Amino acid sequence: MPTVRLATARQPGGGAARLDLMAPLDGLLILVRWLHALAAVAWVGGAIFYWLVLRPALRGGNQAPPTVAQAVAREFRSLVDACIGVLLVSGTILAASRLTSALVGVPYFAVLALKVTLALWMFWTARALRARRTGLSGQGSARRGLRYVAAALTSAQATLVVGVIVILLSDILRFLVERGLSG
Ligand code: HEM
Repeated sequence: MPTVRLATARQPGGGAARLDLMAPLDGLLILVRWLHALAAVAWVGGAIFYWLVLRPALRGGNQAPPTVAQAVAREFRSLVDACIGVLLVSGTILAASRLTSALVGVPYFAVLALKVTLALWMFWTARALRARRTGLSGQGSARRGLRYVAAALTSAQATLVVGVIVILLSDILRFLVERGLSG
């Protein structure tokens, strides 16, 4: 096999030379991690841009027609839908890869469980916000107080705050793996 010759040629002595059969799988995992990070950046970064830049600009002196805000919201919702799909699939692959390695212990599992719970809440909230905007949810609900609490819990700002926390938890996960590698 040509790959074997290439691998041994780079390693004088040849003893440690191991045909890296994992290389294609590693490449796939890098691709999955990249897609995962890209989707997270697009969603959370887009939300930060919306709240800190676009919204104040649209509400400021240069009043844009409402159709502009609606078009922006519509496009962003499509982006969020795509991000949710990518995050779900790639996140499941990354979790399976980590949980089947010897590098993770109980702390990793606990942080991952918290992260997945918050991520699922984000996915559900994105759906709920869309349904609310299209008038599908809230029908028949009589109690205003409860609706207020539900609205606060599922607001776009809350999604943004939780998204930022989820990214922090992802960094903690990586830290726990790196600590496992070095110790
Ligand atoms: C079901 C949902 C999800 C699962 C199962 C999941 C799982 C994972 C796993 C296992 C990792 C690797 C952590 C490590 O280094 O050991 C990871 C990384 C990461 N996740 Fe998630 N995740 C999910 C959703 C999300 C969401 C909603 C966000 C943000 C909006 C997010 C942002 C990130 C980021 C930024 C990284 C670091 C990527 C990198 O270092 O290249 N994840 N995720």
